[in-house]
Amino acid sequence: MSTHTAATAAPPAAIPFGEWMHDVQARIEVALDRFLPAADAIPDRLHQAMRYVTLGGGKRVRPLLAFAAGELTGAAPEQLEVAAAAVELIHVYSLVHDDLPCMDDDVLRRGRPTCHVEFDEPTALLVGDSLQTLAFGLLAGESTGGASSPLLALAPARQLEMVRLLAHASGSLGMAGGQAIDLASVGKPLNQPELELMHALKTGALIRAATLLGALCGEAMDDTARAALDRFARRAGLLFQVVDDILDCTASTATLGKTAGKDAAADKPTYVSLLGLNGAREFAERLRNEALEALSMFGSRADRLIALTDFITHRKF
Ligand code: IPE
Ligand code: IPE
Ligand code: MG
Ligand code: MG
Ligand code: MG
Repeated sequence: MSTHTAATAAPPAAIPFGEWMHDVQARIEVALDRFLPAADAIPDRLHQAMRYVTLGGGKRVRPLLAFAAGELTGAAPEQLEVAAAAVELIHVYSLVHDDLPCMDDDVLRRGRPTCHVEFDEPTALLVGDSLQTLAFGLLAGESTGGASSPLLALAPARQLEMVRLLAHASGSLGMAGGQAIDLASVGKPLNQPELELMHALKTGALIRAATLLGALCGEAMDDTARAALDRFARRAGLLFQVVDDILDCTASTATLGKTAGKDAAADKPTYVSLLGLNGAREFAERLRNEALEALSMFGSRADRLIALTDFITHRKF
């Protein structure tokens, strides 16, 4: 396999960031619609619920990261949309379960009633199960909608690596493990390393997976480039949850599309409860700088990732 290093790839097209973001969001919406079973496929209520939680909402930050990282390795959009959709499906499943009464007990998500409120708890459980397996099916080359050729068509060893990466990021050593720590930490102050581990797992792991999967859709990276991208992805993942903690206590329910003030009400340890609001903001700024430093070797090919890091840092919801 050829080695694609910092010096050889084309710079990102000169399309403005806002326009690029809108295009990727629209593209991923169409792709998810295509990959999800039809609303009238039996069992139709389950499929309607899967479509309800997945389509028409969310910032699509993980797909955006996959597409931006794909620019480092010259990845094709047709491959990126499959990898990006796989991570987004795992993310949506994590939100559906996160909102269940046995977890955060939330009634509002992406500006709409949560899955168990709109449907029911058993359906919400099965929606999560089904979105998760759909994600792995896509990475394994599943074809949907009557298509005969696989949706993701990279070298088999590469696809296997992507399956492994997403499995690790989703499971007990990744997102699900972070959620377990989160639930076990209610009412308990965590110190900074403990909080960092919880955030790195519950949120950081999928952000990291999105970034690495995007890059894996293109030419192989050398070890140095891959390590730099990994460093970026870990800092960006932690940054994402620190900003989520800040927004929980500074933004309104209407702006967030989810109930504000839940962390304090549920007595969850967060960066705001550990460092105070100003301390959390300073920490976010530090993480942003560390993330950007990690990208320096990529030059202008990382422009999308740089702009996305600023979006993650300064987002309002
Ligand atoms: C919310 O994620 C849950 C966290 C992991 C912090 P997002 O803020 O990405 O939620 P959507 O996808 O835009 O709704
Ligand atoms: C969510 O963390 C992490 C996952 C869903 C894996 P939060 O519980 O803080 O997310 P929100 O604030 O409900 O979106
Ligand atoms: Mg939670
Ligand atoms: Mg929650
Ligand atoms: Mg939160």
